[in-house]
Amino acid sequence: MDASPMKIYVDGHPVATKYFMEKNSFMVPALFFKYAGIAVDFSNENKFLTLRRNPITLVFQLGRNYAECYVQGIDQPKCDELDFIPEASSDGVFIPLNYVAEQFGMNIWKSAHSSRTYLVTHLSLFSRPGIIYRGNTRNKKVALTFDDGPDGFYTPKILDILREEGVPATFFVVGEQVRNFPDMLKRIVREGHALGNHSWNHPSFPQLETAKVVQEVNSTEEEIFSLTGHLTGIVRPPYGSYTLADRYHLASLGFHVIMWSIDTVDWKGIEAEEILSIVDREISPGAIILMHCVNEKPKFLNGTVKALPTMIRQLRLQGYQFVTVPKMIIERGG
Ligand code: NI
Repeated sequence: MDASPMKIYVDGHPVATKYFMEKNSFMVPALFFKYAGIAVDFSNENKFLTLRRNPITLVFQLGRNYAECYVQGIDQPKCDELDFIPEASSDGVFIPLNYVAEQFGMNIWKSAHSSRTYLVTHLSLFSRPGIIYRGNTRNKKVALTFDDGPDGFYTPKILDILREEGVPATFFVVGEQVRNFPDMLKRIVREGHALGNHSWNHPSFPQLETAKVVQEVNSTEEEIFSLTGHLTGIVRPPYGSYTLADRYHLASLGFHVIMWSIDTVDWKGIEAEEILSIVDREISPGAIILMHCVNEKPKFLNGTVKALPTMIRQLRLQGYQFVTVPKMIIERGG
């Protein structure tokens, strides 16, 4: 089976996925449905592929040509015979777009005009958990954030500068790094900075089953708690990538999802001057600035370290106050 790339517009937003045709049916990877707010899980033990969004649970079994659809509060599942057999592939298990949409009360619409395929979830826009890109735009405050640490090379240099300047920041840490550099994590907390959760080993959430996303953030939160006695309550998904299902599950675990308003792209190894000009051009009240603090490639963040003292002084001259992300959220009113 050869899958081709395609875009499906989920409630108007394009989602890149793959498909192949099987008996006039569009077959798409099961994980695609996370973009429609559906939890997707696979059990290796009994080969069940489960799609769940209350009150519906749809279960496929690998190698079997039927699906069971459970509705909460109704004992007997509806059992449908399928005209295909779900199998594992390198892109996951492919299942029929139209059939799944129908079970969850969603609509598929193909525009003859633009030849686009639309999926309409009928989920309220207002019940979707918020994503935070910035703080209150009426306050001249700014949050510096550093991702992917802690490490033993850049994190101490950044902490030295922050201490020298008397500025609090927020570190979105990776569980694996926390395990390798526990003392650096403790130093971050001791020096008055805030922590955020950036997953255990930096996978892309849209490519993970729901239970694995939950495990990524919970294991990191536990590691942080065991070392510091603090829970972060804020998560930044690796690469800033997430699906609607990830949003629902992170919110149900009590997390605020934090993005950024200014991307310094410092991870590309750019010069301090470039970083400073990006911040200077894009700064506005309530800004959240994205930077990094891990020695992944030697010298890659030299620009960040060099830019930081100047950035802090320039922002101060413009009247900005530095706050942590949790403080920014409180002042934002939620
Ligand atoms: Ni990251």
